[in-house]
Amino acid sequence: MKIIQVRDKNEGGQVGYQLVAETLKKGTETFGLATGSTPISIYDALVASDLDFSAATSINLDEYKGLAADHPQSYHYFMAQHLFNEKPFKESFVPDGANSDAATEVARYEKIVDAHPVDLQILGLGKNGHIGFNEPGTPFDSLTHEVALTESTITANARFFDSATAVPRFAYSMGIASIMKAKQILLVAYGAAKAEAVQAMIEGPVSEMLPASVLQRHPHVTIILDEAAASRL
Ligand code: GLP
Repeated sequence: MKIIQVRDKNEGGQVGYQLVAETLKKGTETFGLATGSTPISIYDALVASDLDFSAATSINLDEYKGLAADHPQSYHYFMAQHLFNEKPFKESFVPDGANSDAATEVARYEKIVDAHPVDLQILGLGKNGHIGFNEPGTPFDSLTHEVALTESTITANARFFDSATAVPRFAYSMGIASIMKAKQILLVAYGAAKAEAVQAMIEGPVSEMLPASVLQRHPHVTIILDEAAASRL
């Protein structure tokens, strides 16, 4: 794992942008994208750049089950607002939160993941060590699946909704095995609230109870941290 410590989100956004730009120039075809507040500074830097994604494909990690693409808290909407409206890709895939039939949706999405091997996967990190919406206890061999969100994640994500009761209880997420197929992974974490998960991810045992620890087994991972997120290392 290559760890890069940055001053703040702005510098992290620039470092992340550089990595995306380098891989795009090398002929990267497929980017795995994440939501949450953490990747926003990378997306801002991409939007401000002259990079052209019109020949590239994007695949998002996850979506709330029950939220349609036009719902302001959906991850579809997030991606449109923060990136796709300004930087359209040839094709962009996000799980369909409006499909209430989990079996068909996860099968449909995993086929997409399979057909488009990810060159660079961007990840945030949950306070409990989740990646995508893969909560603690998710098997490392999991593919795209329906997830029952934990109270910790519902509480953490309530800041984007009117109240915690408005946060959907279920989501669709690429699995740990789906994520690990990416050729290269960039994980970003900021702030003291992530410090414990960061420490466990990098220095702790590889355990399904801390999903991000699986990244210790991936051959090409870069981690961007600010000082607070790195404070327990
Ligand atoms: C959500 C997303 C994750 C993201 C996490 C952290 O649960 N499903 O992909 O990494 O939030 O969010 P933030 O970056 O806002 O701390």
